Amino acid sequence: MKRHEAAPPRAIVAGDGVWLIDEQGRRILDAISSWWVNLFGHGQPSIRAAVVEQMQRIEHVMLAGLTHEPVVRLSERLAERTGLGHAQYASDGACANEIALKLSAHYWRNVGRPAKNRFIALAGSYHGETVGALGVTDVELFRDSYAPLLRIAATVPAPELRGLPDDAARQAAVERACAALEAYLLREAPNTAALIVEPLVQCAAGFLFHPPGYLARVRELCTRHEVHLVADEIAVGMGRTGRFSACEHAGVRPDFLCIGKGLTGGFLPLSAVLTTEQVFQAFYDDDIARAFLHSHSYTGNALACAAALATLDLLDEQRLSANRALAERLDRLFEPLHRHPRLRHARRIGMIWAWDVADAPADFARRFGVEALARGALLRPIGSTLYFMPPYVIDEPAAEHLLQATLGALRATLDDAGGARGAEQPLA
Ligand SMILES: Cc1ncc(COP(=O)(O)O)c(C=O)c1O
Repeated sequence: MKRHEAAPPRAIVAGDGVWLIDEQGRRILDAISSWWVNLFGHGQPSIRAAVVEQMQRIEHVMLAGLTHEPVVRLSERLAERTGLGHAQYASDGACANEIALKLSAHYWRNVGRPAKNRFIALAGSYHGETVGALGVTDVELFRDSYAPLLRIAATVPAPELRGLPDDAARQAAVERACAALEAYLLREAPNTAALIVEPLVQCAAGFLFHPPGYLARVRELCTRHEVHLVADEIAVGMGRTGRFSACEHAGVRPDFLCIGKGLTGGFLPLSAVLTTEQVFQAFYDDDIARAFLHSHSYTGNALACAAALATLDLLDEQRLSANRALAERLDRLFEPLHRHPRLRHARRIGMIWAWDVADAPADFARRFGVEALARGALLRPIGSTLYFMPPYVIDEPAAEHLLQATLGALRATLDDAGGARGAEQPLA
């Protein structure tokens, strides 16, 4: 709140595709999809129509002893899409992860192995801000104030690939990370319920990428040591990496797949935990204590399910392939950022771009955000990592606007203005 005294929040009154429109009628390109939720642009007509149509029928009914068509259809569609045939709903990413963690530990209890109740996360992990999710989150800034409330998970290193010279060095980093996980599992698997990972990209950690091969090895190790794999795809699911789920790149099926954020295209809060028949069967019993007694008032909200169904309609295979082609074109357009003298480690997967700013000033993220907003782009670097996660409907002219706003904000923010200005010249 103190910071807002110097930079008051901008009041947004409307949205139009990739653009947000403020009270003064200024247009701001939403280059981070409003915290990664808005997949198909603001005010997307078919999602809006689906919500309005559902509103005429039934807006919400509790999912206990009652059901409704949108939640049944959504569960079937998600099962088809992921191969995971059982769904539990919540509203946010953190709550989805809580469900997955509880289901995992309860599964092991139900199959007679109650000691398996601890969790592992990757170093730098981020899984949300509720108490359970913070326990598997390894970001001190978010976690440490609440440390006495938490049951903090063990962490294992993820492969750090930035700055490595070649494939051999990258493979060696993967091997080291796998060896660390295996060493941990050899000791602790009897007490461990699950490993939770953000597949392929640890976004909140500063967009740390790991290769699909690492994820495949993690799956093998978890299977071998009888530890569940929870794929937290809250940020990277729903087509963000170019495939419906990030796990698909590695041909991996997790025991629990958590999706949220973009599930409704940014219209309504909804998240889902998808799981296997094996997990379902462990809860299928006459004894109520073996059941999963976890409910949220808005579980499977009908309006949110209608929005999710309309979002899935948009996100078919054809669309995913068009997105991959679009991302390649935009990647060429962003070339001045790839070779910007102050940006390092240019990396991209699907519609995620990230760069690390060399010698960034301490308050780079905040200052850059202000400068970008002044140039009509919503961007919020994480520390010294600049990233784009635009809605999938961004086109070349909008991307060009984003590029110019970014270059301008870099020039205004970084001390070495000369180098940054030099990089802009080819576009002039
Ligand atoms: C990987 C991941 N998991 C969980 C969350 C938490 O989601 P929510 O903010 O919807 O609770 C986030 C949010 O950024 C995330 O990136």
